[in-house]
Amino acid sequence: MANKEILNQEFLKSIESDYIFDNAPINRFSKSKDTDDVSEKLICLKDKIKSIKDCELKKFAKNIVFSDGNPKSQIMIVGEGPGEKEDMIGKPFVGEAGMLLNKMLNAIKIKRENIYITNVVNYRPPNNRKPEFSEIKRYSVFLREHISIINPKILILMGSTAMKALLGQKLKISKERGKWKEIIINQRTFLTILTFHPAYLLRQPDQKKFSWEDLKNMRKKIDELKIKV
Ligand code: URA
Repeated sequence: MANKEILNQEFLKSIESDYIFDNAPINRFSKSKDTDDVSEKLICLKDKIKSIKDCELKKFAKNIVFSDGNPKSQIMIVGEGPGEKEDMIGKPFVGEAGMLLNKMLNAIKIKRENIYITNVVNYRPPNNRKPEFSEIKRYSVFLREHISIINPKILILMGSTAMKALLGQKLKISKERGKWKEIIINQRTFLTILTFHPAYLLRQPDQKKFSWEDLKNMRKKIDELKIKV
């Protein structure tokens, strides 16, 4: 054994090191710092929501429903809140409304796995009731943080609950849908569009024609902004 190697081994013993040496270099650049940062912030936000106190939604729900999809996406969808299936599985839009959402996205050539999806409230409202305004207000603090973390180029709000959470309580969805708006969250501007919720379209299929207009409008903007989906 060469003198240098003996010296190294004695040195390692002397510091009681347990290191294993490998000839393969460690790839310290496989994930960008930004990705790590986003993941950490999302974990932190989820923990914050989990620790919410005195919330009727949380009390009756089985699971937290936080998000689905790609956190690096430039497109973010905000729905209302989990239903029975979402509560069971812990993922947004996996029930009947979710199936319609998938079809709507497919129609404008968006793969669901390439976008990011969340809801205004992260726990299922009992008996699928609509979230109350006090609940919308409470959870909108988390939603705003969620949007800031994802930092999407396009924010799609689906339904009146998402509208109330981010645009205002007094607006009418039938008037406001399909218009591009800019909303400011934490001093950043987000390009936003409001459209009908898929669950509403299941109840009112005659409204699908308006939804189709909105979807085409979204596709046009995605192309203009050269967003990959
Ligand atoms: N409706 C929503 O708004 N969100 C879901 O996750 C499911 C149904």
